[in-house]
Amino acid sequence: MINGSSVRKSAHPIDRQFLDRWSPRAMSGELLSREELLSLFEAARWAPSAGNQQPWRMLFARRDTPEWATFFGLLASGNQAWCERAAALVVFASRTLNSYTGRTSVTHSYDTGAAWGYFALQGYLKGYVVHGMEGFDYERTRRALAIRRSSEWWPWPRWGARRHWRCSVRSFRLERL
Ligand SMILES: Cc1cc2nc3c(=O)[nH]c(=O)nc-3n(C[C@H](O)[C@H](O)[C@H](O)COP(=O)(O)O)c2cc1C
Repeated sequence: MINGSSVRKSAHPIDRQFLDRWSPRAMSGELLSREELLSLFEAARWAPSAGNQQPWRMLFARRDTPEWATFFGLLASGNQAWCERAAALVVFASRTLNSYTGRTSVTHSYDTGAAWGYFALQGYLKGYVVHGMEGFDYERTRRALAIRRSSEWWPWPRWGARRHWRCSVRSFRLERL
């Protein structure tokens, strides 16, 4: 992959990784192991968030799994054209409710955006193309992946408990990330 810094120049000194990361559409078509993908999620996990509430959830499908067709079918046709060779599709969902106050969070989108940034940078550092997309059908995504539109109280913190996972995903609202 071409490094962004070969054409991008910063006005002030910054770490080269910020110039090197970019969003190509050309993909090698190679598959990605679950373990490799989990490394990107792990980086996202360490992103800062208001009150450390970590209001993000990611749903993903790797191309060699049965879920791929569902995720791929949610994309806008313009994005489908170049995503055919992607190794994985990931949906970032953001919880709209502040778990401390029970009111709408004013930072959930900001927090989840930070997690996506960490995810993308870790992906770049491992030599992968990570390309953000807003071009997909949000309503169909909500339905297909069972993501609730409205916020609901969810017993935080229980991120690790499997039995709460479905509940948590359903109480998230999909953001344009
Ligand atoms: C939230 C978000 C949504 C995006 N949506 C799309 C998209 O639907 N299709 C696409 O081809 N690129 C999409 N992009 C890629 C941007 O166009 C790209 O990141 C931007 O032009 C900056 O280029 P760079 O990532 O190479 O620095 C998206 C990027 C972000 C962060």
